[in-house]
Amino acid sequence: MEVITSVESMEQKVKELKDSNQRIGFVPTMGYFHEGHLSLMDYSVEENHVTVVSVFVNPIQFDPGEDLDVYPRDLERDKDMAKRRNVDIMFCPKAESMYPENFRTNVSVKDLTEGLCGASRPGHFDGVTTVVTKLFNIVQPDKAYFGRKDYQQLMVIKQMVKDLNIPVEVVGCPIVREADGLAVSSRNVNLKSKEREAAKILNKSLEYAKEQIDAGERDPDKILLLIKDKIRSEPLAAIDYVEIVNGDDFKKIDRIEGKVLIALAVKIGQTRLIDNMLLTLADKE
Ligand code: PAF
Repeated sequence: MEVITSVESMEQKVKELKDSNQRIGFVPTMGYFHEGHLSLMDYSVEENHVTVVSVFVNPIQFDPGEDLDVYPRDLERDKDMAKRRNVDIMFCPKAESMYPENFRTNVSVKDLTEGLCGASRPGHFDGVTTVVTKLFNIVQPDKAYFGRKDYQQLMVIKQMVKDLNIPVEVVGCPIVREADGLAVSSRNVNLKSKEREAAKILNKSLEYAKEQIDAGERDPDKILLLIKDKIRSEPLAAIDYVEIVNGDDFKKIDRIEGKVLIALAVKIGQTRLIDNMLLTLADKE
């Protein structure tokens, strides 16, 4: 596996790959790999000639006071894991080369970024879309792989790619979970042992909501209450948001039907975790 740390060397490498008609698969990450990242790498390796994985903890997608400083990092561990997954190139640029002193551009997607995580993390999605645009321009992938745990991020990036005619296919991949249902996340490593136990409440509350919907409940307000009560039964959990919205445009709904997203963000101790469930129900029953 080749490790590239400068933007210029990555651009040169991409030129060589394009000249030899290699199809590039791309997995953008902030590192500290877990099974979710590894599954994205597997999809890319399977579907492309060359797989590039970027590791860049993007400072502009963290609000002041968020966990940028304690975001887990271990490049040597990441290199080892990516190599074992048959990744061809790991791209690890420095913040100074991604954002030199006179950097002045912001890429922003409207509407889709306003609710859910966008409401509690102002500026977050502008940071994501700006860095992803830069990474797409540098790596010029044919396909790029994102996890559905960050469902809002996935939809925002799909919208951006469509609106800006960026020539890449954005592929959304399934959420990977621990045996007890907790969605894998780099942030899970920051959970102390009691918090790790408590974190199970995210998935448990989503599963509980699904049971009620499967049993016929269609009132989003009732389901929201049930989810919130369930989360509040866990003393270490503090709700950031729980929302039930249309799965395409994230607008509020007054009846659970069609494509529905149940999304939540919960703080367990100091660690903010997100999870979601996407349901497709028959429109009329
Ligand atoms: O999902 C992530 O890890 C990040 O938001 C991304 C897409 C790599 C952009 O920094």
